[in-house]
Amino acid sequence: MSVARPLPHDAAALHVTGAARYVDDIPTPRGTLHLAFGLSQIARGRITAMDLAQVRALPGVIAVLSADDLPFANDVSPSIHDEPLLSDGRIHYLGQPLFLVVATEHHIARRAARLGQIETEEEAPLLTIEQALAADSRFEDGPRIYSKGDAASAIAGAPHLLKGTLTMGGQEHFYLEGQAALALPQDNGDMLVHSSTQHPTEIQHKVAEAIGRPMHAVRVETRRMGGGFGGKESQGNALAVACALAAQVTGTACKMRYDRDDDMVVTGKRHDFRIDYEVGFDDSGRIAGIDFVQYARCGWAQDLSLPVADRAMLHADNAYLLDHARIESHRLKTNTQSATAFRGFGGPQGMLGIERVVDHIAHYLERDPLEVRRVNYYHAPAGTGPGSGQPFSGPNAGKGHRYAAPGPATAPHEDLASRGAAANVAPPEVPEPPEGAQTTPYGMEVTDFILHEMTDRLAEQAGYSDRRAKVAAWNAANPILKRGLALTPVKFGISFTLTHLNQAGALVHVYQDGSVHLNHGGTEMGQGLFQKVAQVAASRFGLPLESIKITATDTAKVPNTSATAASSGSDLNGMAVKDACDTIRARIAGHLAELHQQPVESVRFADGEVQVGAERMSFAAAAKLTYEARISLSATGFYKTPDVAWDRIKGRGRPFFYFAYGAALTECVIDTLTGENRILRTDILHDAGASLNPAIDIGQIEGGFVQGAGWLTMEELVWDDKGRLTTHAPSTYKIPACPDTPDIFNVALWDGENPAETIYRSKAVGEPPLMLGMSAFFALSDAVAACGPHYPALRAPATPEEILHAVQRARG
Ligand code: MTE
Ligand code: MOS
Repeated sequence: MSVARPLPHDAAALHVTGAARYVDDIPTPRGTLHLAFGLSQIARGRITAMDLAQVRALPGVIAVLSADDLPFANDVSPSIHDEPLLSDGRIHYLGQPLFLVVATEHHIARRAARLGQIETEEEAPLLTIEQALAADSRFEDGPRIYSKGDAASAIAGAPHLLKGTLTMGGQEHFYLEGQAALALPQDNGDMLVHSSTQHPTEIQHKVAEAIGRPMHAVRVETRRMGGGFGGKESQGNALAVACALAAQVTGTACKMRYDRDDDMVVTGKRHDFRIDYEVGFDDSGRIAGIDFVQYARCGWAQDLSLPVADRAMLHADNAYLLDHARIESHRLKTNTQSATAFRGFGGPQGMLGIERVVDHIAHYLERDPLEVRRVNYYHAPAGTGPGSGQPFSGPNAGKGHRYAAPGPATAPHEDLASRGAAANVAPPEVPEPPEGAQTTPYGMEVTDFILHEMTDRLAEQAGYSDRRAKVAAWNAANPILKRGLALTPVKFGISFTLTHLNQAGALVHVYQDGSVHLNHGGTEMGQGLFQKVAQVAASRFGLPLESIKITATDTAKVPNTSATAASSGSDLNGMAVKDACDTIRARIAGHLAELHQQPVESVRFADGEVQVGAERMSFAAAAKLTYEARISLSATGFYKTPDVAWDRIKGRGRPFFYFAYGAALTECVIDTLTGENRILRTDILHDAGASLNPAIDIGQIEGGFVQGAGWLTMEELVWDDKGRLTTHAPSTYKIPACPDTPDIFNVALWDGENPAETIYRSKAVGEPPLMLGMSAFFALSDAVAACGPHYPALRAPATPEEILHAVQRARG
C-alpha cells in the first residue's frame, strides 16, 4: 500500500533540476504585458496630486491605471473590504500601491513605476505597538478577553508572584518564489488566471469582483508554489487582480511578479507581539493563576489579523493545564505592512508567552525548567503516562521504528462525508465538556495529551540529565563561551478556527486503461500535500503510485475551496479524495460482483488487481468492464471535519478536532564578548500520528524547526522612524541557511496513531514543528542566564546584539 511509505516529494527531481514550472515559467502568448506598482514613499497621509505624465511617457508603457480607472471593486481584502488595490487617496503605509503600470517588459514597468510625481500631505505614522495603544488605533472596538476561573484571586493568593514583558519580532516569509500572477483573457471577457496562491478560490472571488463578472467567468489554476508559508493566503490577491484588470483593459495577457525588494516592502509578514504577564505559583512552580495581555501589531488593514490574534489566545496555554487564566488580546492598527498569516498563524506568539513564563518561574525558583514544565503539563489520559507501563496504546506501540507503521488499511468510518451538505451557518452550538474534565482556558477538554511520554522518551534518548550536568560543568569552567540547554513542548490545535472552512472537495476520474486523474482543492507549496493525497488515492484503488496523475489545483474542477492552510491540507483533501475514490470503487465492485455472482464485500482491490471470488483481473480490465457496462468512473468527493464548534467572541467550545504534539531539545553556545551563537545539537520527537509519508513529514519537521529558530534567533525586521522597512533584501534580512542548522540534528516521529478519525489516522504536520524552534530560544536564554544572577528576559529575535544586552541584564 502506498500510504505510510517514505516516498520522495512527487516533484523533487523537477525542483532540484530546475524543471518544475512556476507561474513565471509558463510560456506566455505573444505580446504579453508586464505590470508593476508605483509605491507610496510615505507611511501615512493623503495624496494631494498625482502626476503620472512621465510614467506614461516612458517608451514601452502601454497604460497607467489609478484608483479612478477601476470600473468595479477596488478591493483586495480577504476580510472586510478595507484594502484598496490602488490607493483611494489615503496612504496607510510606506510601500502601498498607488498606481499600476502596464508595459511591454518587466523592467520597463518597474522603471516607469518610479517616475510618478506624487504630492502628499504627510501625517505622523503610528508604527509601534506603544504608538498604536496611545492613539487607541485598533481593529475591533476593544480588547478581546477569554478567561477561565478567577485569575486575579488565584494570583493574589499564590505563594509567589512574577510579572514581566516579552517582545517578539515579526517574520518575513521569504518564500523562494516571490508573488506572481498571469491573467489570460478568454472569450467574452472571461479570465483564466495562473496564480502563486494558497487560495485559488479567493483569487477567483476577488478577480470576479474586480472585473465585474460572476465567479463562473473566472478560472484560477495553481500548479505549485515555490513556498507560501501563509504569505500566499491573501497576499497574492493584489497581483492577480491587477493582472486581470489590465488584461480586461488591454485585451492582452498580463503578468506580474514582485522583485524581492518590492515583495518584502509591499506584502504582510508575521505579526510581532508584546505580551505582558503576571503569574502566581507555588514552590514547585505549579501555576495557580495567570494573566496575559497580548498586543498584536496588525499593520494597516485587517486581513486575517482577527483569527491570527484569536489563535494566539487559543495557544496561550500551550501544554499547560491552567486552572485560573485570563487572556486579553489587543489587535492594533499601525501604518506598516498588513501583517498576515505565517506558519502557526498566531499560535507561535501565544505559546512563546507561556514558555517565557515557565522559564521565568524556573529561574526564580532555581529549578530545572523542564521540571517546572512537567508539573504544569496537562494530565495524561487515564491508563497511560509515566509508570503506567502502557506508554502508547495504538497498534504500532512499542515497535520502536523511526517511521510509524501504517494504520489500519481501512479507516474506521467508511461513510465519511455527507456529500453536498451545506456549511453550517447557524450560530454554533457550543458543547460543554463533561464535569471534572481537564480543559483549556477556552473550555475544550484535553483527552489525548501524550507529552508526558514524549518528553520522557526524548529526554532519555537525547540524554537530558547528563547533558544538563555537562553544560553546568562547562559553564563553571568557561568564562567566555556559555552553553545552554532547553527542552520545550508543543501542543497545537488542528482545524480552521473559522469553522465553516473545515471542508474540502475532490474530483477523481478513472480512465478505461485504469489510470487515474486526481484533483482536489488543496494547493502544493512544497509541503508534499499532492504526494500524500496521491498515496491515499493509490491505496484506495490498490494501485501503484504511477497510476495516479497529480494535477494542478483548478477552481473549475473543485469549487469553493478553503485556503490550503491551518495545516489541514492532507486531513481535509485526503478525506475528500478517499470519499471520491470509494464511490468509484463501490461502483466497480458492485458491477463485478453482479457479473460474477459474488457478494460485493468479497471484491478486493490490491496490487494493481481486482479480485472477485476466485477471479482476478487487472484494475485496468475492471475499469474497462465497468465502462462498457455504462457505469460512471468519475466522482466528486467531499469532507467536513466533525466535532468542531466554538464561539470566538466568548472564547468557548471546541475549535479544534485534535491536537498535534512535539518536543525538542536544543543545546547552543553563545560568545559573551560578541553575542554570536550557534545551535550545537537538536533532538526532536514529533507526533504526526500514523504518518502518511514519513519522509515528507520529517522534512516538514526539519524545515519547521529551522524556520521557527530563524524567527526567534536571527530574522530581524527593522523599520526606521518614517516607517520605511530597512531590512528589505537578503543582504540585510538574515534567514537561516544550511550552516545555521544544528550541527547534530536528530528528528524522529512519535510512533502512534491519531485517536481522532483522520485520514489513515495521520496528523497534520505543516505548522506545529515551527514551534519546536522555541527550544533554540530558551537554550539561548539558558546560556545567557549562566552569565549572572538576574533573569535575562531575552527578547526575540535573540540576535547577537540582543544577546549582548541580555548578558548585561543577567549580570545586573
Ligand atoms: N512547507 C513548505 N515546504 N512550504 C510551505 O510554504 N507552508 C506551511 C506548511 N509547510 C509550507 C510548508 C504552512 S504555513 C502550512 S499552513 C502548511 O504547510 C500547509 O500545508 P498542509 O496543510 O498541506 O500541511
Ligand atoms: Mo499556514 S500560516 O496556515 O498558511
